[in-house]
Amino acid sequence: MKIINFVLGILLLSFSAMTMADPVIIKYSHVVAENTPKGQAALKFKELAEKYLPGKVKVEVFPNSQLFGDGKEMEALLLGDVQIVAPSLAKFGKYTTKLQIFDLPFLFDDIHAVDRFQNSAKGQELLASMEGKGLVGLGFLHNGMKQLSANVPLRTPADAKGLKFRIQSSDVLEAQFKAVGGNPQKIAFAEVYQALQSGVVDGTENPWSNTYTKKFYEVQKYITESDHGVLDYMVVTNEKWWKGLPADIRKALGKAMSESIAFGNKIALTEDQDYRTKVIEAKKAEVIKLTKAEKAEWRNAMKPVWAQFEPEIGKDLIDAAIQANELPVAAKKAKSKKK
Ligand code: LMR
Repeated sequence: MKIINFVLGILLLSFSAMTMADPVIIKYSHVVAENTPKGQAALKFKELAEKYLPGKVKVEVFPNSQLFGDGKEMEALLLGDVQIVAPSLAKFGKYTTKLQIFDLPFLFDDIHAVDRFQNSAKGQELLASMEGKGLVGLGFLHNGMKQLSANVPLRTPADAKGLKFRIQSSDVLEAQFKAVGGNPQKIAFAEVYQALQSGVVDGTENPWSNTYTKKFYEVQKYITESDHGVLDYMVVTNEKWWKGLPADIRKALGKAMSESIAFGNKIALTEDQDYRTKVIEAKKAEVIKLTKAEKAEWRNAMKPVWAQFEPEIGKDLIDAAIQANELPVAAKKAKSKKK
């Protein structure tokens, strides 16, 4: 009897050890506020991943550069200190030159064209453009089109001459501001407000959601509605960690990720103009609308940057992006019927 009890005890212990295995901890770190498309997508991922894998995973989200800021977050991912990050596409220069395509000024007509390109075969290939470097893309995530801002009104490219602009860590963006005679400076996102407030730089560029949630409008007198480029993200993970997960967990996490991205993208598309309205309502910065002719001047001044980076990016990729500005035939027909 004693022996049976002993064996039963052992079985019970090992069974509870099996069922009570520690959950996989997934740290998701990013630099923006929670009430942005990226902030909301990260929280949605936590909700869905923990719903699909109850007790098996625990997702910890760190917004606002709380855990790692620009520059450090990718290193942390490669070291295994975090498992998911979603840097802006402008911040991948160290790992691939291909993603520089997204920084080319005036390449995409609007966020819908960006969306078509990201979902095209060429766009999807980019998710794997860093696999040899230990990083794997889980999906693209939208923020929105960028607007220029400064303490002087920027109507024509000549107005940017001699001004210092904060940029993300991108050589294309550096070339873009140099093309209009500006003096670009790479500064981490967490330091932008202070750099603008203290006059370390005179201006910057960002989509409405970041301008609103980080209050850049408080420290910029003018915002020019230029829509001159896009600021989107790639959600990336550590390739070794991802491939080492049990297949069922990886599959469920992949589903949670796709759904959280769709959720964030919807917010980006539908709320971009709400963030703009909130900035205008705050009555701190004046919003400048460009005429068609003024916008063409900016485009002409900045477009030489395309040729400069074409050898690194590839003509095929640039052509595919230009192609994405065209509406698919069915959508064109529906549009002309509506008229
Ligand atoms: C920036 O540095 O301006 C952006 O990349 C921040 C972000 O993640 O949206």
